[in-house]
Amino acid sequence: MTPRRGRLVAFEGVDGSGKSTQARILATTIGAVLTFEPGATGLGSALRHLLLDPGHPEPDVRAEALMMAADRAQHVAEVIRPALCEGRAVVTDRFSGSTLAYQGYGRGLHVGELSQLVAWATGGVEPDLTVVVDVPLAVARHRLEHSPADRLEHSPADRLERLDAGFFSRVRDGYLELAGADPLRWSVVDGDADVDSVAAAVRQVVEQRLRDVFDEERS
Ligand code: TMP
Repeated sequence: MTPRRGRLVAFEGVDGSGKSTQARILATTIGAVLTFEPGATGLGSALRHLLLDPGHPEPDVRAEALMMAADRAQHVAEVIRPALCEGRAVVTDRFSGSTLAYQGYGRGLHVGELSQLVAWATGGVEPDLTVVVDVPLAVARHRLEHSPADRLEHSPADRLERLDAGFFSRVRDGYLELAGADPLRWSVVDGDADVDSVAAAVRQVVEQRLRDVFDEERS
């Protein structure tokens, strides 16, 4: 019998939202493969440095989108698709929604065109659920500045984090619009609370939407 395809859950949010912490907690809870973008593969790690290291020249916006897409294509091919084919659950800290929110709403590239790019790069692999961890921008900024634990281990202060408040406001609004347009596959969780409360809210949403992930956990 062919094993059932595993489930893919993506976490999204502005820098400092706490999504990385929540991705890690959920992955531990359900025994999922935990991964992230950009940079989870050898190629991706090189792209991450080129994209985010303030020491590198700033790429053109379209080049930035293509490099994020290249990272994702490699990530799907090397990490995500093989795990899903084995029937494993996969939790990824950022996925296609980041390109739509950051390069689309944030940078101003055409969101419809980016959706096509993303679909091509992933070969059609889509999250079963995308969880947006939403916080007011002042909270995100405060967390980035004051609590290193909210920052991913693989993420020193990067070039995109240095962009202005207007950029992050567009990114946040973009996430909320994307989630509102596809309520079956997206969910917004209020991230402006302590870690355990947010984790409980995430768990509730995932249990509601993807009950089988927890069935596997219990079996
Ligand atoms: P991280 O800090 O969550 O690891 O993400 C690194 C940065 O890359 C973050 O500022 C968001 C940005 N990013 C994009 O702009 N587009 C993308 O498609 C992805 C995956 C990340």
